[in-house]
Amino acid sequence: MKYSLVCKKCGHVTENFAQWLAQDQCCPECGSNHVDVRYTADYSKLPELYKQSPDSFWLYFDYLPLEHRENIISCGEGAILIEEWDFMEKYALEKYGIHCQVMVYRNDLNGGTNTFKDVAASMAASIFKENGVKEFCVASTGNTATAYSKYLAKAGVNFNVFVPDCVCKDTVEEIKSHGQHIHIADGDYAYAKKLAAAYHKDNHVLISAGNIDPIRVEAKKTMVFEFMRQLGRMPDVYVQAVAGGTGPIAVDKGVRDISPVFPEVKLPRMLLVQQDTCDPMVQGWENAVKAGFPEGYEKNYPVIDNPQTKVSILSTGNPGMFPIVAPIVHKSGGTFLRVKEADLVDLARLVKKERNVVLGPASIVCLAGFYQALEQGEIHDGEMLLMNTGEGAARAKEFANSL
Ligand SMILES: Cc1ncc(COP(=O)(O)O)c(C=O)c1O
Ligand SMILES: [Zn+2]
Repeated sequence: MKYSLVCKKCGHVTENFAQWLAQDQCCPECGSNHVDVRYTADYSKLPELYKQSPDSFWLYFDYLPLEHRENIISCGEGAILIEEWDFMEKYALEKYGIHCQVMVYRNDLNGGTNTFKDVAASMAASIFKENGVKEFCVASTGNTATAYSKYLAKAGVNFNVFVPDCVCKDTVEEIKSHGQHIHIADGDYAYAKKLAAAYHKDNHVLISAGNIDPIRVEAKKTMVFEFMRQLGRMPDVYVQAVAGGTGPIAVDKGVRDISPVFPEVKLPRMLLVQQDTCDPMVQGWENAVKAGFPEGYEKNYPVIDNPQTKVSILSTGNPGMFPIVAPIVHKSGGTFLRVKEADLVDLARLVKKERNVVLGPASIVCLAGFYQALEQGEIHDGEMLLMNTGEGAARAKEFANSL
């Protein structure tokens, strides 16, 4: 037994993914879909792996929920060279007198579909191959949809994806190019989710278990191992544009996994960013701050119907994961930040000029968070920041052209 899935609510142990999928991804005791995957492997062997130069996150096979290496489906994802962006460091020093290190984890360099959804899609495709899954469905704002389309096609899995009406044209084309099935909902992401749930129920097709899906979380937690391998330590601050919250949930999981063996590995202060046109988590957080974090604060958040944003990837108006993400941010000493959508094009131009790279709008939201954090005094002298930028501009041609 390499791993098992332990219910976070009642402690019930599900032996493996074969059983977990057969249970429709729920605990048979209490019905919860929130589990932690636990491994028998010894974490003290991780530093040995840090000496290698991997081409994918599968370097960490011993700490991933797959039994046999021959089931791995990979396009070279999740072991991206972390870059240091000194133009941002200089800005912090010149304008605020703050010395900081700005490290950028550029997920646009992932080999699959150039987003940080590639690792999750690789994990899913591999698990499905190992367990004979032939059908899958999901609701997505675009990047999960694209990544899963490609990787599941490689695993021979028939895939139905439900996207909001604001989806980018380029995304639609790419999903079709992999021979998968796209359904454009006549409404927002929340509505696409309803359609996907109905498809799952009516056709008995497995569906992604959302942002706490152990498949996604286990893949993305390897970020923590990559930070340790490449930086030699955890960054002090972790910055990400947030929609559902899988990223911060996964960083927390990775740190929880290894901190008993490596107590120096601490959860970085999380600065999670949303654009002002779809910022329900920021609003929920501001309410909590105002009220002084009363008991149950995390259950109090607004829902934005049909958010009017051009950043379709970050159009989650109903932040159902706030009750899980907000306490992680709270325990990390971090905060949520609001940036202006109207400022994104100028910032993307600056990035293009300084680094000769065009990033997608969701990545620019993350970078905009850095400037906002400086303005709000959320970055301190001597800190190392990790900017987790999620996408390139390949499927955001309109945005790229506007630069
Ligand atoms: C590029 C990009 N940035 C940020 C996000 C938000 O990710 P999370 O699920 O961690 O909130 C996504 C996915 O929705 C994304 O594709
Ligand atoms: Zn349970």
